[in-house]
Amino acid sequence: MLKPEIEDGQASLADPAFRNDVLRGFGLRPRAIPARWFYDRRGSELFEKITDLPEYYPTRTETAILRACCGDVARIAGKGRAVVEFGSGSSTKTPILLEAVDPAAYVPIDISGDFLRESSAVLANAFPALSVLPVEADFMHPIALPAQVADTPKLGFFPGSTIGNMIPHSSTDLLRAMKKSLGEGAMLLIGMDRIKDQATLEAAYDDAQGVTAAFNLNLLERINRELGATIPLDAFRHRAIWNDDRARIEMHLEATRDVTFTIEGRPFDMAAGETIHTENSHKFGARDARILLRAGGWTPVGEWTDPEGRFAVILAEAQPARLAP
Ligand code: AVJ
Repeated sequence: MLKPEIEDGQASLADPAFRNDVLRGFGLRPRAIPARWFYDRRGSELFEKITDLPEYYPTRTETAILRACCGDVARIAGKGRAVVEFGSGSSTKTPILLEAVDPAAYVPIDISGDFLRESSAVLANAFPALSVLPVEADFMHPIALPAQVADTPKLGFFPGSTIGNMIPHSSTDLLRAMKKSLGEGAMLLIGMDRIKDQATLEAAYDDAQGVTAAFNLNLLERINRELGATIPLDAFRHRAIWNDDRARIEMHLEATRDVTFTIEGRPFDMAAGETIHTENSHKFGARDARILLRAGGWTPVGEWTDPEGRFAVILAEAQPARLAP
């Protein structure tokens, strides 16, 4: 039996992609680390807590919209499609859609095998008659779906405004990759957070209980733990800033004093006031959302919002190739 060589030191346990992103990110100006690294075990727990915060409106708003709109979605998309979810399903949102559209199969796609197995087991339990076909893959690239659903029309599901984590260049790449993965005649149900007043937006990413601050700072703890780094956590504070020009909330970690530390033995320093950019969360005007979808190859055919217009759920169909203007 081969055993993982944990005695070799913590660094050997680290995902090489994480290591590369961190070492590269600390070398950039401004410093930046991709948001996907938030979601280790603790980060995922903290995100679950965020979704329950009074200030964090997106999750409960989108869930209420889905409860109200999934009957319409089933009527427009038709029943019996294969539902393909980008990201491990949420135990609250996914069942709402599955119940309404009576799918031929459910295909969750996630880069983390652990999360994928957990959420697949929960879903399979709740829908014993449903064929659940998890795929462990990076959905940023086109994916070969299981042979069982090759001839079944697909309904993609991408809730949570996760698309907002990407800059437009990448989100259109992703939309095109999804279109390739889902094939001809596919539809996509996607959640997109709306632009609203700055105070509401900033509070959603800087809550009174400090859960989002802990979520952001956990990234430094993860770097310390997995890359044997010596970053003093007490020298950093959480910042959430609305960037109006780019229509996004930015999360940063700001050094509160001059600091020096090492990552895998390499020295780094930051002056007081310097930041590490850790996340973008783009927000969309009603037209912005539809233009982005069209730019990525999808034609909006249905749209639902809450009464205050805080969040939108949009149904789109794969644009056929066309030559007309
Ligand atoms: C999971 C990416 C949709 O941007 O609102 C929540 C992540 N970050 N609070 C978001 C997040 C801080 C969330 N997404």
